[in-house]
Amino acid sequence: MLGHASKILVRSRFAIAFTGAGISAESGVPTFRGSDGLWKRYRPEELATPEAFKRNPNLVWEFYKWRMRKILEARPNPAHYALAELERLGILKAVITQNVDDLHREAGSKNIVELHGNIFRVKCTSCNYKENLKESGRVKGFVESRDLPKCPKCGSLLRPDVVWFGEPLPREALDKAFRLAEKADVVIVVGTSGLVYPAAYIPYIVKEHGGKVIEVNVERSGITPIADVFLRGKAGEILPELTELVRGLR
Ligand code: APR
Ligand code: ZN
Repeated sequence: MLGHASKILVRSRFAIAFTGAGISAESGVPTFRGSDGLWKRYRPEELATPEAFKRNPNLVWEFYKWRMRKILEARPNPAHYALAELERLGILKAVITQNVDDLHREAGSKNIVELHGNIFRVKCTSCNYKENLKESGRVKGFVESRDLPKCPKCGSLLRPDVVWFGEPLPREALDKAFRLAEKADVVIVVGTSGLVYPAAYIPYIVKEHGGKVIEVNVERSGITPIADVFLRGKAGEILPELTELVRGLR
């Protein structure tokens, strides 16, 4: 199966990757729906919806600052690096991710589409102020402070620049992801349960346009029924092996 997948990739004209929380599991970042997933322990409607934020911004910020601290301790794992390598080899043209953990960028991927935002970006609930806390060097102070973060421009509450349940995805990112999926002749789907739309359309769009779907997951998912190749196992083990084979075939 790995050999078959590596041949599909080497023959591809425009391969893309579509990733979910599972690719960051081996970096120590909790997934959402796995056995110890976040949504097993917390209720998403209390923490990841606009209504929850309106009702209890302190609780929502406590949750997101806890996640920011966990992700700050995390490093990219061999799966992230393998995708960055496939991009350097000219095979992978883009990574479309549902993850907000910035680990693809840290691993060296360049063409990244963040469908659900980025946990290190904050935005104002009133004006158009946005800040990437990593770029402004304010992450540490921000996660340590217990106060509710306020907009430096207008004084309103700041919120995480991530997509909450019931919210639209960023238009530009979604359009770019759909255009990439329409062009792609191969999509490597890594570590997603394939249950959350519209993100989960991406592999279906590739399939509908005659492309091949390679899936890497420790168990079957909502995407497995359309997978041409299903590589069962950990992304951190499979993707480096796959990249090794691709390098050898070029
Ligand atoms: N290697 C490969 N796959 C893995 C690994 C691993 N080491 N560990 C877990 N997985 C798989 C699980 O089997 C599961 O199919 O990763 C998937 C994680 O699924 P979810 O937790 O549902 O994460 P995801 O699909 O990214 O969720 C989509 O839902 O909560 C929202 O906005 C959030 O972006 C998220 C979206
Ligand atoms: Zn403001």
